Amino acid sequence: MTSYSDLGEVYEYLISEAKLAPAEFAASFDDVLSLLPPHAQVLDSSCGTGQLAVGLAGRGMRVVATDASETMVRRTKELSEEFRAPLQALRANWQELPDHFDDDTFDVVFCVGNSLHHAAGARGRAAALQSMSRLLRRGGRLVVTSRTWELVRARGSRLEISDRLVRRNGRDALVIYRWHIAPNWQDEHHIEIAIAQMDADGSVLTRSELLSSWPYRHDELEAELRQVGLQTEVSTFNLEAENYMVVARKA
Ligand SMILES: C[S@@+](CC[C@H](N)C(=O)[O-])C[C@H]1O[C@@H](n2cnc3c(N)ncnc32)[C@H](O)[C@@H]1O
Repeated sequence: MTSYSDLGEVYEYLISEAKLAPAEFAASFDDVLSLLPPHAQVLDSSCGTGQLAVGLAGRGMRVVATDASETMVRRTKELSEEFRAPLQALRANWQELPDHFDDDTFDVVFCVGNSLHHAAGARGRAAALQSMSRLLRRGGRLVVTSRTWELVRARGSRLEISDRLVRRNGRDALVIYRWHIAPNWQDEHHIEIAIAQMDADGSVLTRSELLSSWPYRHDELEAELRQVGLQTEVSTFNLEAENYMVVARKA
């Protein structure tokens, strides 16, 4: 159910202003990036429209950008050409990654921007994390950023309509999220996202998708990382913040 084909075309409305510029998105990971050798090999395993991957390539890193969505991969290639920041982009879901790359290939693997909850439950997440771990060199790091799902679930099912129009490329849009929170953590949840673009003549073009989601607790994520040989080095988890980052190192 999670395709990001229609949403992928207008995904910029879902990205914060700070992450739209590739260099700024990459700079938000400076603490991790400063530990890397020059020309490090990095994988963005859910690259979306490519802002992070292009930002990393712009810093001279050898970048591979993958995503399950064909639309996202096409947009990443377009952004890479626009910024003249060469990278390799290909369509692959997390479980398919070992078909494309040897074990112990990358210095860092990114899975950021609230992507991991799309893996199908604890088993899907374990398989996804196992793939990412395999591709890391010994001492390499996996970087995950995540919503604080504990907060999302506590708020229950609801409709969330942005309180401001979002302007991208001279066009405004209203962004609407419908959260369907299932009774149990392990159940499939759904998030419907609609982006209603408005034109000066009053016409409205709406694109929407129903996405599948399997939220997880921070504790579960840490345990699952350990199970695939990754030791948490940094966690910014805080029950009062909407998002957190985990950096885990391959032993
Ligand atoms: C919320 S977006 C985040 C995109 C990007 N990382 C960002 O920060 O803007 C989630 C991304 O995960 C991708 N995705 C969903 N399921 C996936 C899977 N099984 N394997 C790889 N990517 C997946 C989607 O296609 C989408 O591009």
